[in-house]
Amino acid sequence: MMRVVGSVFLCLYYVHNFMGTGSYCNSMISLRDALRSGCASIKVINMLHFTFKQVHFASHVKSVRLSSKLKTSNSDHNTCSEKDIAMNFEEIPGPTSYPLIGTLHKYVPFFGEYNAEALDKNAWLNWRRYGSLARENPGVRLLHVFDPEDIETVFRQDHRYPARRSHVAMLHYRLSKPNVYNTGGLLSTNGPEWWRLRSTLQKNFTSPQSVKSHISSTDIVVQEFLEWIKKRNVSHHEDFLPYLNRLNLEVIGTVAFNERFHGFSEQEQDRKSRSSKIIEAAFGSNSGIMKLDKGFLWRLFKTPLYRKLVNSQEYLEKVSWNILLERANLFVSDKDNDNSLLASFLKQSNLDLKDILGMMVDILMAAIDTTSYATSFALYHISRNPEVQKKIFYEIFEHLPTKDTKITAEMLSKLAYTKSCIKESLRLNPVSIGVGRLTQKEFILRGYLIPEGTVIVTQNMIACRLPHYVSDPLVFKPERWLRGSEGYENLHPFLSLPFGFGPRSCIARRLAEQNMCITIVRLIREFQIDWKGGELGIRTLLINKPDKPVSLSFTSRKE
Ligand code: HEM
Repeated sequence: MMRVVGSVFLCLYYVHNFMGTGSYCNSMISLRDALRSGCASIKVINMLHFTFKQVHFASHVKSVRLSSKLKTSNSDHNTCSEKDIAMNFEEIPGPTSYPLIGTLHKYVPFFGEYNAEALDKNAWLNWRRYGSLARENPGVRLLHVFDPEDIETVFRQDHRYPARRSHVAMLHYRLSKPNVYNTGGLLSTNGPEWWRLRSTLQKNFTSPQSVKSHISSTDIVVQEFLEWIKKRNVSHHEDFLPYLNRLNLEVIGTVAFNERFHGFSEQEQDRKSRSSKIIEAAFGSNSGIMKLDKGFLWRLFKTPLYRKLVNSQEYLEKVSWNILLERANLFVSDKDNDNSLLASFLKQSNLDLKDILGMMVDILMAAIDTTSYATSFALYHISRNPEVQKKIFYEIFEHLPTKDTKITAEMLSKLAYTKSCIKESLRLNPVSIGVGRLTQKEFILRGYLIPEGTVIVTQNMIACRLPHYVSDPLVFKPERWLRGSEGYENLHPFLSLPFGFGPRSCIARRLAEQNMCITIVRLIREFQIDWKGGELGIRTLLINKPDKPVSLSFTSRKE
């Protein structure tokens, strides 16, 4: 009894303070920390959540219900667990969910409030309306998590085999072709089969030695790229994104397969060329994934979107098979001259050709658009901030006194400011709005019981743009990442996670960062870059594509 009275008292105390100071969200965080222990405390938190965030009537009804739950629990000699008194998942604030369609009505064009290609805007709407947790049901039980403390809690639940629910239609397609694929590949497979692939493949991607071994080949490709854009006199009248796509296809071809696609050549500019078709097929695969994940009609018949996915996958498969068969034959005689990822895969005794083929298709899908979009946004921010560009240039100039100085691993390790620009750009414009996880056991989050099998989306992009967690959040300030600099900010480690988190995080993070860094170093060393377009937003097609042309002008530097 004393405990309940005490809790109510505490509750009133906090009510009073909240009313005076404003921020619901921050208050909830500090309150939760203050009251972490004991069933009665959780009850208070639950009650408060409803008192402040929900319609008053609903709040009252639920508080009464919780109150009776608590009494029952307390009568059980203090043995109540958090679970006993946790609120149901359905009680988390969120849009109205109807039988059969859930919250899908929200995505209906013209009628619904959500736009399937503007997940960031939907997330803002959810954040403003429902607070730091928002429930949805677009065909699956879905929870959006905005607060970095909660995001950390979500990742701390990760199982030995962290799971995602994505690329569902692609998984279906690949499993329907057992003569070509063993699994759905790294992107779509979960459980022990995912770990078999991941644990075998990842050392080739992540070991610092292996990543560094690709610096000089990447640099050669980037220098060819520079020559190409100089020759074409690329200007702001053209979208720079397709150029970056060609660059990143060429880089990944070299690094991953020891294959040159010659994407900068005249012949390969043709729409029917191999490089043009790979770029189109990678985009064709990625851009439908999210809509197919939400839909179900493709399970009944081959919808146009599903057919597009299949055609795109088939083309990537064909290209990969040709390269793989050639390498597998050649490998016997030429193994010493090949440091590509493919050569290392071929040495793994526990991978067969079908595993390797799946990985090659995943690489083509995952490498081109991601790196090109991330580089586009980095160039956008750098070119819009002349002071930042000047600083990067001075840093680069110190290590590359002439334009043709070779880039080395040691040099890259010293480019702290350039790297902080990449981090800052990924904070403001991550390639993915957040990270997805499929929960594999139930757990409690802010007093709610989150069941097993819930899809969680951590909303890092929105959190990164909130003043609650970052000072001047919309300002591009690379210094906030630079330890020892005046502008350094000790940001929450779970706030900006552009490559995800834990054993399921991006397998190619180091490679991708290195590729971006080399590209930016070479471009800024060669050109003064200016932004000529308007504000650049995003279209969320699984990954965040610039919503307008990447409009840059390049002026050759004299030095
Ligand atoms: C700037 C570039 C890139 C960004 C921002 C990025 C970001 C991500 C993110 C957020 C994830 C999900 C992580 C998670 O669930 O915790 C991921 C997974 C993945 N990425 Fe990347 N990525 C990039 C480049 C690449 C490249 C170049 C490759 C291939 C060479 C690649 C291959 C993959 C693969 C295979 C996975 C699935 C890993 C797994 O499920 O085990 N990514 N990436």
